[in-house]
Amino acid sequence: MIEVEALAVRYGAAEVFQDVSLRVDDGRIVALLGNNGAGKTTLLRALSGILGGQGGRVVAGTAHGEGLDLTRSRADRIVRAGIVQVPEGRRVFGQLSVEDNLAAGALSVRSRPQARRTKAWVHELFPILADRAQQPAALLSGGEQQMLAIGRALMSSPRVLLMDEPSLGIAPLVARQIMETVREVNHAGTSVLLVEQNTKLALSVAHHAYLMHGGAIVAEGPADELATSDLLLEVSLGKHTASAVPTGGNPHG
Ligand SMILES: Nc1ncnc2c1ncn2[C@@H]1O[C@H](COP(=O)(O)OP(=O)(O)OP(=O)(O)O)[C@@H](O)[C@H]1O
Ligand SMILES: [Mg+2]
Repeated sequence: MIEVEALAVRYGAAEVFQDVSLRVDDGRIVALLGNNGAGKTTLLRALSGILGGQGGRVVAGTAHGEGLDLTRSRADRIVRAGIVQVPEGRRVFGQLSVEDNLAAGALSVRSRPQARRTKAWVHELFPILADRAQQPAALLSGGEQQMLAIGRALMSSPRVLLMDEPSLGIAPLVARQIMETVREVNHAGTSVLLVEQNTKLALSVAHHAYLMHGGAIVAEGPADELATSDLLLEVSLGKHTASAVPTGGNPHG
């Protein structure tokens, strides 16, 4: 599970957000929605220990997950604890074969039989990755590269997947297939923090959702309730200014 409390992050002097609280309970798919520049990727960086490398830092608040203080843990330690990010823009190793990309995801797995079993499962989820095993990843289509990026993350048998806009730049049909796979992965026991600008798609698979705007979480609730919220519509249409947003209570408190 992941638990974020009143987190504030800056790049240099520039504040990205000042008050973000959210939680991802075991077994859940939680969507994090928000417009361009809202700070979604930045939050995922803070959770996976790669914020410092990007010139960012946590200036207030806490983030815990799988028994670790995530704001004070190294990226490799966080991956070994089971929190694994599928980065925005896919970022597969283009020169390496599909097979070797998957193998790279299993570097932290000590048990060979377990790695073999996981690979068989990944091939079942995405048969194209078996068909193209020997090809350089760069030759895959955008949607197939997204599948590879997810497959690579799954190779380390994560307990929590942090997914950054898996539908970005991908044909709607393929994006829906990927969401179905997210649901399957979740059924198999992995919880998911799903960052998306495609709110409809994300809310179709998520249990719970948060909306980030103007440096804070401005709405949250069960996915089906948030789907019909006026605030979500106004924010996505750019009609809302942060100061006009009611803060609301914390249903977990
Ligand atoms: N490494 C960085 N250094 C300085 N500023 C950054 C850095 N990365 C992001 N920012 C800024 O921080 C803010 C939040 O960016 P972030 O990438 O987290 O937004 P996002 O919600 O993921 O947006 P998108 O939906 O476009 O991916 C933006 O104003 C962005 O310009
Ligand atoms: Mg982003």
